[in-house]
This record gives sequence, structure tokens and C-alpha cells, in this order.
Amino acid sequence: MHLIKHNRRTYRSHRSHINLLQTTKLADELPAQLSELHLRPRTMTPSFTLRKLTPKDKEGAIDFLRRFFFLDEPLNQTINLLETPESRCYELEDYASSSLADGVSVAAVDENGDFVGIVINGLAKRDEVDYTDKSANCPDPKFRVILKFLSDLDRQARIWDKLPLSCHTVLEVRIASTHSDWRGRGLMRALCEESE
Ligand SMILES: CC(C)(COP(=O)(O)OP(=O)(O)OC[C@H]1O[C@@H](n2cnc3c(N)ncnc32)[C@H](O)[C@@H]1OP(=O)(O)O)[C@@H](O)C(=O)NCCC(=O)NCCS
Repeated sequence: MHLIKHNRRTYRSHRSHINLLQTTKLADELPAQLSELHLRPRTMTPSFTLRKLTPKDKEGAIDFLRRFFFLDEPLNQTINLLETPESRCYELEDYASSSLADGVSVAAVDENGDFVGIVINGLAKRDEVDYTDKSANCPDPKFRVILKFLSDLDRQARIWDKLPLSCHTVLEVRIASTHSDWRGRGLMRALCEESE
């Protein structure tokens, strides 16, 4: 009985020795094998939740957009829309906040409830289509340039001529903005999917 026990123990200890050797060999080879796979390093995305924006969010949404979108969206950046962080562009603020009433804008909030991404969407209706250029009425000379550019694009695109006549309403993505620390992690993709 004793002998059998002893042999079993010896066998077990041999087996674990072999396992250890194999594991060590695998561990030694792992870095080289991984580098051959050219894996991209993955960053952890902290958790966020999505929620609908309402007109009550106007102040918070504008504050967020003034910190990011107003400064770093390429058109705004090109014309240096805000000359100092304190500068205001009331026309762009109105453009953003007036779309909240359509009830189709979405925000991503972090664990503290702070905005980390916003997509401002609006509903455009076929029977309200108006391609006339109203940029000349814009008091802000810088934003006027952007309005003129967007209005020219609108006229060239003529989306309603391309949509089936049965389509009366479309969702327009008007402003997309992600907090600079959260970019490249799929936040805007999630916001756009939620908008759909
Ligand atoms: C553009 C912006 C909203 C993207 O937000 P984000 O959360 O980093 O985007 P995501 O990580 O969800 O990426 C979504 C897709 O957009 C692409 N993308 C991201 N930033 C991009 C950029 N600056 N230019 C082109 N494509 C971009 C990504 O490759 C990704 O494509 P995929 O899903 O096919 O791989 C963000 O960079 C931002 O706020 N920029 C400043 C404001 C701006 O330019 N807004 C757009 C005009 S309204």
C-alpha cells in the first residue's frame, strides 16, 4: 500500500515537472509569437451610458460644445471661430440648442453623469425644404462664412431630389462632438447607432 502511494507521488511529481518544463518553454516563446501577430495595443474604454437630450439640457450641452466642438471642429478651427475660450458665437449656440426640441439628440455621460460626447440631430421635412441662402442675415461674420458654405453644399447636394418621394422626413446629424480624452474609442459610433 505504502509503495503504491509512493509510486503515485513520484509519478505525480514527474508529471508536474514535465508540465512545468512545458509551461516554461511556452512562456519563453510567447513574446516572439505575440510579436509575429502584430496585435494593436487595446485601451480600456471607461464605462459610459447613453441618454436622450431634451431642451432642459441646453446649458450643459452648450457648455460642452463650447469646450470642444466650437474650438476643434475643423471648419470652426479654420476660421478661428472662438478667438479666446471666453468668446461666444450665439448663432452657433442657437443652431445647436434649437435642434434639441426635435427630441432626437443623444449624449454619452460618464460615471459622474458628465457629458463625454454629444450628437445633435434634427428632423428635416420635405414640405419645409428651402434652399435659399440666408447666411447674409447672420450677424457673426465668421459664422456667416460657415453658413454660406453649408448652404452652398446643401444646394449642390439636393438630397430631396435623390430620396424617394414617399420619404417626407429625414434625420440630420448636425453636430458631432466627443470629449478629446474619449476619442477613437467608438463613442460617436455608439451615439450615431443610438440616433438611428
Ligand atoms: C469626429 C469625432 C466626433 C469622432 O468621435 P469619436 O468618438 O472619436 O469617433 P469613433 O471612435 O466613434 O469613430 C467612429 C468612426 O469615425 C472615424 N473617425 C473618427 N474620427 C475621425 C476623423 N477625425 N476623421 C475621419 N474619421 C474619423 C473612425 O475611424 C470610426 O470609423 P470606423 O467605425 O469605420 O472605424 C471627434 O473626433 C470630434 O469630436 N472631433 C471634433 C469635432 C468634429 O470634427 N465633428 C465632426 C463634424 S460635425
